[in-house]
Amino acid sequence: MNHIFFLLLLSLNSSLALDNGLGLTPPMGWLSWQRYRCTIDCVNHPQECISENLITRQANLMKTEGYLDAGYNYVGIDDCWSESQRDENQRLVPSKERFPRGMKYIADFIQERGLKFGLYGDFGTHTCEGYPGSLNYMEIDATTFAEWGVDYVKVDGCNVDASLMDEGYPKFGEYFNKTGRPMMYSCSWPFYLDLAGISPNWESIIENCNIWRNYYDIQDSWGSVESIMNYFGDNSKRLATYAGPGHWNDPDMLVIGNFGLSYDQSKAQMAVWSILAAPLLMSNDLGNIKLEMKELLLNKDVIAINQDSLGRAGYRPLKKSQISAWKREVSPIISNRTSLAVAFVNHNDNGTPRFGNFTFEELEIDTSEPFNGYEIQDLLPSSTQKYTVYQTDGRYRFEVLVNPTGVLMLKLTAK
Ligand SMILES: *[C@@H]1O[C@H](CO)[C@@H](O)[C@H](O)[C@H]1NC(C)=O
Ligand SMILES: *[C@@H]1O[C@H](CO)[C@@H](O)[C@H](O)[C@H]1NC(C)=O
Ligand SMILES: *[C@@H]1O[C@H](CO)[C@@H](O)[C@H](O)[C@H]1NC(C)=O
Repeated sequence: MNHIFFLLLLSLNSSLALDNGLGLTPPMGWLSWQRYRCTIDCVNHPQECISENLITRQANLMKTEGYLDAGYNYVGIDDCWSESQRDENQRLVPSKERFPRGMKYIADFIQERGLKFGLYGDFGTHTCEGYPGSLNYMEIDATTFAEWGVDYVKVDGCNVDASLMDEGYPKFGEYFNKTGRPMMYSCSWPFYLDLAGISPNWESIIENCNIWRNYYDIQDSWGSVESIMNYFGDNSKRLATYAGPGHWNDPDMLVIGNFGLSYDQSKAQMAVWSILAAPLLMSNDLGNIKLEMKELLLNKDVIAINQDSLGRAGYRPLKKSQISAWKREVSPIISNRTSLAVAFVNHNDNGTPRFGNFTFEELEIDTSEPFNGYEIQDLLPSSTQKYTVYQTDGRYRFEVLVNPTGVLMLKLTAK
């Protein structure tokens, strides 16, 4: 009996997953929220309001500017797309002013370009911005989304008692499943449970959602990005065990290319999100983005870490002298030696690049393996950063020099 229980626990990660064939690697794409919020005034903000114009413009850029080729294939509309009332058949209605041709038109436009369509809903009576929510209408909304050609649903959790979620989120998922249309299912469930002081049922979350939000909404600032890093760092060993093909933690959108992050800070977000196996959902204006930020978002080597086929999420082994160290096991595995992605983030913001000094033991790297068993590559080089790997006192060490609020990211490829 005990043995059987133990085996079940061991296999939790691999056997439980939402069986819709989606999200085998973390989803990548674009989502309106962080940059465009609930902008509905198209008279004063014609380029920014949540509208057919905004979404089709960004979808075109996803294709023409190379984002789709790099792997970003979802285009998602967040809150504030609907009318404030359901129609006489209780169905959700897209804003007549801002989506005059409806959502099927948007889905077709997006899908004709080889992209996939994401749409937002809320499990409660109303969305976070007060538009109609799906409580008591889950079946009708799942059917409507499927008819419109939605490929990805983000279901928020405002305006509802969190104690209903353990039953409600799986139920909504069943209705999506019954439509016969595979839709990536993004849940906000564990975060709202946490807020309500209820401990999440992780087995159920893993089994019912493709991705889930764990923590507060991201904002366009280093303070926000860093607070999310700290949360994921402080909980990362536990959170990493929940992630795997088909089911991922979601630290929220990439804010790279907006107003708040420097180039170094943008690199740090890209590096840590990739090591965490986080969804890479940009929220920015793809038509107005600095070249260096665009190139960072399109960086093939870093994206390859995020999308690695082993599907093992990374974690933060330690933070020392204001430098946090992050590590993820990635392919290839050569004679039992697993390749690694390692990132060092300097949290000190005063002035000059900072040295860090880490032993392989501190980074939880198997020291029976000599470091010359790896080929080391700097994935995000900077002229003011450097690293050395050497042996002293019988220990292998990394010595790194990292820019203020920046990152040094290495790939150690097993050979
Ligand atoms: C619905 O769930 C079943 C059983 O888990 C699965 O085999 C099927 O692929 C799912 N269908 C969709 C459309 O998600
Ligand atoms: C790989 O690991 C397995 C299990 O620990 C061991 O039996 C095998 O000898 C190892 N192979 C090599 C090439 O080190
Ligand atoms: C790192 O630690 C080693 C061993 O204690 C020492 O030799 C080296 O000078 C240290 N490097 C820095 C930059 O502190």
